[in-house]
Amino acid sequence: MKILIFNGGPHNGNTWRLTQAAKKYMKQIDNTIKFYEILLSEIDLPFCTGCSNCFRKGHKTCPHHDKMQPIINMIEECDAVIFSVPCFQGHLPGIMKNFTDHMAFMLHRPRYFRKKALIISTTGGISADSTTKALAATLPGWGFNKCYQLPITALSWNAYHPTKKDLQRTYDVTKRFYLDVKSGKAHIPGIGVLIPFNLFQAMCVGNKGENDFPTEDNNFWPKYKGMRYAPGIPMTAFKRVIGWLIYQIGKKLSQKIVITYKK
Ligand SMILES: Cc1cc2nc3c(=O)[nH]c(=O)nc-3n(C[C@H](O)[C@H](O)[C@H](O)COP(=O)(O)O)c2cc1C
Repeated sequence: MKILIFNGGPHNGNTWRLTQAAKKYMKQIDNTIKFYEILLSEIDLPFCTGCSNCFRKGHKTCPHHDKMQPIINMIEECDAVIFSVPCFQGHLPGIMKNFTDHMAFMLHRPRYFRKKALIISTTGGISADSTTKALAATLPGWGFNKCYQLPITALSWNAYHPTKKDLQRTYDVTKRFYLDVKSGKAHIPGIGVLIPFNLFQAMCVGNKGENDFPTEDNNFWPKYKGMRYAPGIPMTAFKRVIGWLIYQIGKKLSQKIVITYKK
């Protein structure tokens, strides 16, 4: 099993310390796991410029593609990803937010359908949960199949030593995450991901603005034509109907609404 760990904070601090404990527990359960670490602060990824090249022409035209593609490939090559993100003002640290901005095109063209994530956050007093929730709301949009969350109140700015209780919780969540990844089981997607999958598909193929404002989305979606979610991911009959309804709404909207990417 290959696990990629992101340090999404600016230093190796409280959250990283807890993440190392999670890593140790996973190693205890299965010493064959291979871990790979990316310290985002060391990558010097410039800020997303908002050029929208990734949406319009494809992510390979991003001005920071040379920094991003190796990371995108590493996520692809690993079975699961751990995101270590301290709570800054109840949200993700800027370094992590900047990284997710570079990945925003995946909300239009998702890909990591079989990946699972564990999101770890520590906070001084409050809002570790809003930090993990913020990322857990984004990752399914990139395709992630399941997100586990570990928000911990450290009651410390720089010198957190995880308590017995925190370590027990870390062990419990980490074990559930590991067993799920090991099982290889894919979970049935929630309605929250059926909406973009079916809406984008409907609005990108044969839409009103397709000829005037072609985007990479138009090249991406035909391969999923007629599918209510990604192949190989289990669906119930109810979810298929919901997906189909969303698709029909998208078809209607695409005849009326033109979203222009004109520059
Ligand atoms: C820029 C900044 C913003 C912070 N915002 C919050 C906050 O909104 N709520 C809180 O309780 N603690 C806040 N803290 C404290 C950190 O969340 C806490 O110390 C955390 O454990 C730091 O993790 P780290 O050492 O991995 O960076 C903040 C700290 C910094 C440096």
